[in-house]
Amino acid sequence: MNSITGKTVICGIIGDPIEHSMSPVMHNAAFEALGLDYAYLPFHVRQEELPGAVVGIRALNVVGLNVTIPHKVAVIPLLDKLDPLAEKIGAVNTIVNESGVLAGYNTDAPGFMQALQSKGVDLEGKNILILGAGGASKGISFVLAEAGASLVILNRTLTRAEELASQIAQYYHRKPEAMTLSEENLARGLDGADVLVNTTSVGMVPDVNQTPVPARLLNPNLVVCDIVYNPLETRLLREARAAGARTIDGLDMLVWQGALAFEKWTGQKAPFEVMKQAAIKALGYEK
Ligand code: ATR
Repeated sequence: MNSITGKTVICGIIGDPIEHSMSPVMHNAAFEALGLDYAYLPFHVRQEELPGAVVGIRALNVVGLNVTIPHKVAVIPLLDKLDPLAEKIGAVNTIVNESGVLAGYNTDAPGFMQALQSKGVDLEGKNILILGAGGASKGISFVLAEAGASLVILNRTLTRAEELASQIAQYYHRKPEAMTLSEENLARGLDGADVLVNTTSVGMVPDVNQTPVPARLLNPNLVVCDIVYNPLETRLLREARAAGARTIDGLDMLVWQGALAFEKWTGQKAPFEVMKQAAIKALGYEK
């Protein structure tokens, strides 16, 4: 653990609940690895205390905060400045205190892109099948559309998929196709798809035997991404690997969103592997 001094720069995370967050261990390991006099703290902030917490960032000279559930949308009107991508997505997960001006960013969605790019996946002109149409899907769908990919969105509740497709169409040329999450539509959507992204919670602990996609629909030409990182290898990823597909797990995306926030607060390149190993250890995934 870093030793805190009178000069230590403070960052942290606000959310409710907060005790399961991996961010404190990831960031503090990164500060320590680079010898930075920074500390990252968890702040349990209830909805009614959010305005006070944001005012406190400036008052206490906190250099930056991550924002997690349930504050990612509600925090926006409380900030001074909004990054264009965060504005489009309508969610902020990173605040930077720029000499008293509070700027909101979204590093969740760019973190997903970094995870893909770091594995050599090029997205321009690619066909992507996205499962889910919630908050996580929205960010991912926007950055994929921005990267020039062609999207199909499947969701259990069709109206949510249609709503998201319409929001994307407002900003980008091509409107994603929206369909109900069914076996028939999965087969249709996967025909010719290059990348499959699961943004639903299907397969997460404790329901580890569930998968959103029957194994027989997977093929070796796919890159399969799962935002679930608990377990690290979901049934979907295990079956994708068995089918010969390339896989990207949810922890890579989580660590990349942290790495991008770290770079905004410190101006230094984040030690990705240090952060990933710290998260793996904290999650108890060490072999
Ligand atoms: P997040 O911000 O993590 O995306 P969310 O906004 O609650 O969380 O969205 C959860 C997503 O997982 C939604 O797409 C949800 O589908 P619905 O819109 O139909 O609710 C999807 N989801 C959750 N449980 C599911 C299940 N058992 N089967 C299929 N989809 C599921």
